[in-house]
Amino acid sequence: MSKLWGGRFSGGPAAALEALNASIGFDWRLAPYDLKASKAHARVLHRAGLLDESELDRMLEALDGLAVDVESGAFQGTVADEDVHTALERGLVERLGELGGKLRAGRSRNDQIATDLRLYCRDHARGLGADLADLVSALAEQAATVVDAPAPGMTHLQHAQPITLGHQLLAHAQGFIRDLERLWDWDKRAAVSPLGSGALSGSSLPLDPVAVAEELGFARPVANSLDGVSDRDFAAELLFVCSMIGIHLSRLGEEIILWSSQEFGWVTLDDAFSTGSSIMPQKKNPDVAELARGKSGRLVGNLTSLLVTLKGLPFTYNKDLQEDKEPVFDSLDNLALLLPAVTGMVETMRLNTEIPRAAAPKGFSLATEIADWLVRKGIPFRSAHEVAGACVAHCEERGIELHEIADADLAGISEHLDPSVKAVLDVDGALAARTTPGSTGPRAVADQLAQVRESVEAW
Ligand code: ARG
Repeated sequence: MSKLWGGRFSGGPAAALEALNASIGFDWRLAPYDLKASKAHARVLHRAGLLDESELDRMLEALDGLAVDVESGAFQGTVADEDVHTALERGLVERLGELGGKLRAGRSRNDQIATDLRLYCRDHARGLGADLADLVSALAEQAATVVDAPAPGMTHLQHAQPITLGHQLLAHAQGFIRDLERLWDWDKRAAVSPLGSGALSGSSLPLDPVAVAEELGFARPVANSLDGVSDRDFAAELLFVCSMIGIHLSRLGEEIILWSSQEFGWVTLDDAFSTGSSIMPQKKNPDVAELARGKSGRLVGNLTSLLVTLKGLPFTYNKDLQEDKEPVFDSLDNLALLLPAVTGMVETMRLNTEIPRAAAPKGFSLATEIADWLVRKGIPFRSAHEVAGACVAHCEERGIELHEIADADLAGISEHLDPSVKAVLDVDGALAARTTPGSTGPRAVADQLAQVRESVEAW
């Protein structure tokens, strides 16, 4: 019997309970982290005088051997093992006999699982950060090719004011940079070791939580053992960051879907990042962008699932907490799949700058320039807005664009207008005039680009 808790029971567990209770089906991926934590714990038991020198050596050797066999698949958890901890103790006892049973002293699956999951999350958050940094670089390099390329800037998906395409691509990069910062901040709170908390109250054995924390790359041990075995804030926070990344990916995906449509035609996706139709031979579909939009749903779902699991739990460990792992694994797995594909799509897409350039002034998007021109002449913006609006109405009646208003008609629209206003009715001029930091003008965008590149290099 491989159970870790058989002593006080008269018979074995019912098959239905065993099937329900087992987490081995999804927690096996924690085995390398559990083994690493076990080595640290073995050293502490040795220093506490609970393992002699030769016992420690044999223990460490067995744990290393087990790690190799786990990696190769030669040793595997089975359904009869309740969870990863049980399976690995079985493996240790198979190798060491009685000595294998000494490692559990001063430790519980409660502090073990909390430690394993933190180690897993911190390790995978680093990979997630690297994938995000690659996406930011891909956006920055595309932006570099269109720093001064005009496009219609939109609010309500209606033409609002001209912008540069580079500015819009870098706006996407900004969200992902904040996500990188979130991961960075998160790690500071996650870098706390629960080992030493035991089942809930700490241990009467002379353990050394500080040394274990250090060996496992944590900044310090938990301050409170009850909190140590119960706290899953780190998992919830990481799922929030994953959700936010998902929301940003979804927005990027949605824009690329729009831009690659026949109606927009701003971007052509590379064949390697497009899919076809089983019936319509001409189809080229933006599946990567659609999955970027679609997967945000499950990322938010995973966050919600964990928060609802945690809500109302009393201290300390409750079996509900076993439900914490699958949402975390699912979010990290899906982002590991999605991010490289989105990065590849962004890297290889071709921006068709002529179409957005031609569209930029449409829909009277330069009307604000008229108002600003009047403001520079001392007219209050409230009146300037009225005059610019009258220009739009004048054009709409005649089916013309703002720059096509006859010079002779200008004074009729407003006494403050004269033909020199036409100088501001030019997209490139309107863009170049936006020089303040963070604005859409090519100079400001070039500065922003330099900062974006710097921020990913620092990561
Ligand atoms: N499989 C368990 C989990 O994932 C490990 C901790 C079990 N602790 C216990 N007291 N039954 O949460």
